[in-house]
Amino acid sequence: MLIIYIIILIIGFCALFYAVSQLISIIFGAQYVKTPHEIIKKAIELSNIKRGENFYDIGCGSGRILKFVADNYDVNAIGVEISPLQYLKARILTIDNKNIKIIHKNINLVSLKNADVVFCYLLPPLMKKMEKKFAQELKKGSRVISHSFPLPNKKPSKTEQVINHTLYLYKY
Ligand SMILES: C[S@@+](CC[C@H](N)C(=O)[O-])C[C@H]1O[C@@H](n2cnc3c(N)ncnc32)[C@H](O)[C@@H]1O
Repeated sequence: MLIIYIIILIIGFCALFYAVSQLISIIFGAQYVKTPHEIIKKAIELSNIKRGENFYDIGCGSGRILKFVADNYDVNAIGVEISPLQYLKARILTIDNKNIKIIHKNINLVSLKNADVVFCYLLPPLMKKMEKKFAQELKKGSRVISHSFPLPNKKPSKTEQVINHTLYLYKY
């Protein structure tokens, strides 16, 4: 009987952890939806990332994009993630690569002044805040690639359609 109580307790804890994580993502900006692999490849190509540069995925989810970039382009990949569940997944997925760092924080509280390339897949209200943050913090020469949602005021340097999705490239 005790074992059944323990199993129910574990399942209950996992369900609660999942629900709270989802809720945090939604409240702070965007829930987890992954960018398909073809789009990741195109986004990185568009960013023209170079060896040794600092790549940020703001709202990195499970860390898939960081892993792809760090493994294939010899760059420093930094992910910022607010959801405890996604943060945990990202830490586990990227544990073997010392060029990947995951920060468990609200993106509004993380400086982007060292970023060369920023990737984001965030909803319009958060993109509005990011536009101001990018203008204040990004150094000259840095690039932002946004999946699906444009910055509300800044004109993109380039847009690209990949399987019904749009990528927006911004240069600073
Ligand atoms: C649409 S998913 C994108 C995941 C990944 N970047 C990708 O493209 O596959 C957005 C992610 O941003 C995270 N997020 C939402 N608001 C955030 C905030 N204010 N600070 C940090 N992460 C945030 C969510 O938890 C979610 O994992």
